Amino acid sequence: MIRDILIHPDPRLKKPCEPVAVVTDELAQLAVDMLETMYDAPGIGLAAPQVGVMRRVIVMDCIKDGPPEPMVLLNPQVIWSSEDLSTYEEGCLSIPDQYAEVKRPAAVRVRWMDLNGEEQERGFEGLWATCVQHEIDHLDGKLFIDYLGPLKRQMITRKMEKLKRERARG
Ligand code: NI
Repeated sequence: MIRDILIHPDPRLKKPCEPVAVVTDELAQLAVDMLETMYDAPGIGLAAPQVGVMRRVIVMDCIKDGPPEPMVLLNPQVIWSSEDLSTYEEGCLSIPDQYAEVKRPAAVRVRWMDLNGEEQERGFEGLWATCVQHEIDHLDGKLFIDYLGPLKRQMITRKMEKLKRERARG
């Protein structure tokens, strides 16, 4: 089931999320729905608070050409970051059509729990590294525009407020 994606500004996008203790049927369904919602958007990553669920769950697939590689990460944690930084022009499904350059560690190592409740660990680089850090930020109530200067952030926020007013009018 495709879920509605919250648009910034929304208080749920600013709050830290709760860890997942056990993988219930409801949580497995959330992961399936999040992947479906992400592919439909289309996007390369989605975090649970973006569909209004305040749990530490992210989904990703950064493959552009070739077979899909859907990933579901529960309680993801960056356990190592490279000193090397890289700059990507980031966007966000909760901030449609707005892009800005953000500098982040070029490579990270992440530990998480999978849908079988097993601990997993993997290194990410390139677009995957940017994406996983962007999505983990969502779980801490942080958006990519929080890395920008206040003027740019305010400008984007005003545009989103306008977009939400227009959508509410239908
Ligand atoms: Ni995002």
